[in-house]
Amino acid sequence: MCYSIAIDGPSGAGKSTIADALAKRLGILHLDTGAMYRAIALKTIRLGIDFNDENTISKVLQDTEIDVKFENGLQMIFLDGENVNSQIRVHEISQAAAKISTLNSVRTVLANAQRNIAQKYNMVVDGRDIGTNVLPCAKYKFFLTADDNIRAERRYQELKSRGQEIDFETVLNDIKQRDQMDTTREFSPLKRAEDAVLIDSSNLTPLQVVDTMLSHIKELL
Ligand code: DC
Repeated sequence: MCYSIAIDGPSGAGKSTIADALAKRLGILHLDTGAMYRAIALKTIRLGIDFNDENTISKVLQDTEIDVKFENGLQMIFLDGENVNSQIRVHEISQAAAKISTLNSVRTVLANAQRNIAQKYNMVVDGRDIGTNVLPCAKYKFFLTADDNIRAERRYQELKSRGQEIDFETVLNDIKQRDQMDTTREFSPLKRAEDAVLIDSSNLTPLQVVDTMLSHIKELL
């Protein structure tokens, strides 16, 4: 039987960085579920479909292949056979992914796909609804958060390092808007599972966050 470690939390809390580092320390894989929402958002944009048009989006989903592969431990995401890893990491896709992730049909398809992947490997799985909906029986659950301004600053630096022209205020507003959408959507909104350990990373380095998690996970080491 495989085990999973769920890390949920709002945008910019550092989930991906932490999940990567934790998975490396444990010698297991990291599944970034946000990338799957981003891949669908990319297809929706390419086809020019309105983000609220659930009917068309759910039809398109039936003919869409989202594949997650791991190459040397690194996650690669394929949309209908095309590696879209770098295309999905732009601001426009973040906003689109937040919108399409409110649709129940999208969530159902992706949650099932995520459960199938998590059955095959020991994994750290990061997202918004992993501990509450996708993997409610995950062996360990963490809810990672941080102050709004700190999250925005981290996201701003990340986008700048990828060469994106963007100002801090835009990133901060985007983070607030995404929090609003993620926490108030009807289907599996972002919230801490009752049995998840809450970690505020505002004043912690990534190493400190991972060490805090590992102190809760002793028996897997
Ligand atoms: O983690 P991220 O920023 O790559 O996620 C992109 C969007 O996808 C985010 O706004 C919320 C959504 N998402 C979700 O609803 N459920 C998940 N398990 C992962 C991401």
